[in-house]
Amino acid sequence: MIRKYVYGKPFSTEAVVADVSAGEGSPAYGRVETEKGFCFTYTMEETDIVYGLGEANRGLNKRGYCYISDCTDDPNHTEDKRSLYGAHNFIVVSGKETFGLFFDYPSAMTFDIGYTRMDTLQVSCESADLNLYVIEGDSPYDIVKQFRKIIGRSYIPPKYAFGFGQSRWGYKTKEDFRKVASGYRENKIPLDMVYMDIDYMQDFKDFTLNEKNFPDFPEFVQEMKSQNIRLIPIIDAGVKIEDGYDIYEEGVANRYFCQREDGSDFVAAVWPGDTHFPDVLNNEARTWFGDKYRILTDQGIEGFWNDMNEPAIFYSPEGIAELKEMLKSFLESENYNDGVNAGELATADIPKSEAGANGTDDADEGTGSGSDDGAAAVSLWPLMGKIGALANSKEDYRNFYHVVNGERVRHDKVHNLFGYYMTRAAGEAFERIDPKKRFLMFSRSSYIGMHRYGGIWMGDNKSWWSHILLNLKMLPSLNMCGFLYTGADLGGFGADTTRDLLLRWLALGVFTPLMRNHAAAGTREQECYQFEDMEDFRHVIGVRYRLIPYLYSEYMKAALNDDLYFKPLAFVYPEDSMAVQVEDQMMLGNEAMIAPVYTQNARGRYVYLPEEMKFVKFLPDGTISEEILSIGHHYVEIALNEVPLFIRSGKCIPLAQAAQCVDALNTEHLTMIGYEGTEYTLYDDDGFGKDYEKKDNYRTIKY
Ligand code: GLC
Repeated sequence: MIRKYVYGKPFSTEAVVADVSAGEGSPAYGRVETEKGFCFTYTMEETDIVYGLGEANRGLNKRGYCYISDCTDDPNHTEDKRSLYGAHNFIVVSGKETFGLFFDYPSAMTFDIGYTRMDTLQVSCESADLNLYVIEGDSPYDIVKQFRKIIGRSYIPPKYAFGFGQSRWGYKTKEDFRKVASGYRENKIPLDMVYMDIDYMQDFKDFTLNEKNFPDFPEFVQEMKSQNIRLIPIIDAGVKIEDGYDIYEEGVANRYFCQREDGSDFVAAVWPGDTHFPDVLNNEARTWFGDKYRILTDQGIEGFWNDMNEPAIFYSPEGIAELKEMLKSFLESENYNDGVNAGELATADIPKSEAGANGTDDADEGTGSGSDDGAAAVSLWPLMGKIGALANSKEDYRNFYHVVNGERVRHDKVHNLFGYYMTRAAGEAFERIDPKKRFLMFSRSSYIGMHRYGGIWMGDNKSWWSHILLNLKMLPSLNMCGFLYTGADLGGFGADTTRDLLLRWLALGVFTPLMRNHAAAGTREQECYQFEDMEDFRHVIGVRYRLIPYLYSEYMKAALNDDLYFKPLAFVYPEDSMAVQVEDQMMLGNEAMIAPVYTQNARGRYVYLPEEMKFVKFLPDGTISEEILSIGHHYVEIALNEVPLFIRSGKCIPLAQAAQCVDALNTEHLTMIGYEGTEYTLYDDDGFGKDYEKKDNYRTIKY
């Protein structure tokens, strides 16, 4: 049962698409206060578990930290960070009382889940204008499924998007792309997509192509397609300010960009230099921006990734002007002049306040320009703080507006919706471009509701072992919030990867719907063919292709039934007090469990089996080892070039032969693994169309 409680005048985010009955009185759980902003307080029992929050830091059980839903471009996903790129305000408290809460509120919202006081859950935000959905059910799993029903069906990508993709920030020319294609094809490592990062554009202008490097682009798209490789270009949020650039000029002429209070177009510097943000919350502007994707689909492109749509801001002219003032007063100050001791200068006025836990807040709180202390104004710290605070500054987010149904809305009030609405622009446009066809789309920033239009990737992670685990723990949480098509930059985006890290991460990526190797410019090259003993990579990625019939089938069942593709063990074995605590193994579909290795130099790992299972290992020689393991704890050996999978008792899954691309998979001739004498119902379709409900899409295979 779901009840909706309306506080103040909520902004309509369109996250929820179903009609939900209004609740009477106040919610049956916790206490709501609306005198000073909004605050929900609930006292937790010691053993209560809190699930949810989608793309958020730390564990599957969110207890013990403070998270802020505030879409942020922060590439350092360290343990102390409170905000990542998404804002997914759905939680489930599971314990003595079990209930779900969705706080539909598009600006910054704090989830203090036992941080200030270990037993207190407190959800708060600045203005008491929001819709609160309270969900009751038999179990956390049941609550999640009810929630998923009211937010609408998750995005369904084309089937080729379940293939493997290679990406790198820095591929510039056709030759660069051909090299990647041949690196994979010649070495017989399967591949379906190569991603085009910002360098394909002319001066980072959205929907353009570098004229020198990409003459005859449609031909090049076909050249790649003839090898069964699809090019997937990036689209950034900011539109470059440049006379003669049609998109810029149209946007200005039609007032489609976000404006300052005085009506001038707001300026933010991102990759192209100064840009304007398309006002994707304005219906007309959103349609206009969405239609621009056609420029590339007309040239044969069938998929995109949307980036920098928090929206990220490197700096604004306003921020630079303030910095200039501060620099001027610093240079003119006595501190800077003669006789100064460099050490003293550096340590003078070190901010005493504890630096904010969130990177982007540091400068505001501790070292910002806000100091009214005369001496501090001329010490080095505020200046350095100001430089650090130029990017993604809260002040900038207060400096521009959207026009929503004729009314002006200040950006910070709806900040968390930008990525959602940018992706919605594309999703709605795809419906106009070809309503019968699926396009690949995933975004960096998101809010619940966006899950209907695209998937997400987890942003700029690092080549760290801890990030494999972070990736794993986030998967079921994202699924709870509707984001099924998801995956992390395998191998790690920032920092230099290592061969073993990439192999282990791929062995997790084998199971994530989005399986993409992506790296930042300047890092070690990490395409699979760059490493010795390439056959290991051929094998691991080959396993992905062998599993695609199953993975696709489970994905489709999850999407079509508002269900989860990845589940916590707790959702399947709620009575097993040990299973309920497991955070480094996940249920995959209805037949399997995954338990990847995420520790360097480990030759295996401990797993907990809540029931008897078949431990399957895909061995590098193409064979499969199967061993029945009993309920309980086990140490299982897993070599670097092996992919482990657990099949639940009484279940089986289909396997195809490995293929070089999804189109070449033979899904008619499947073999089965798992428990003999059982059967599996396979979902399959043409992979492009939208005729999901056809009966023929299901067939039962006996083992
Ligand atoms: C952002 C994206 C990253 C991309 C880079 C350059 O950091 O998150 O994936 O490679 O921008 O476009």
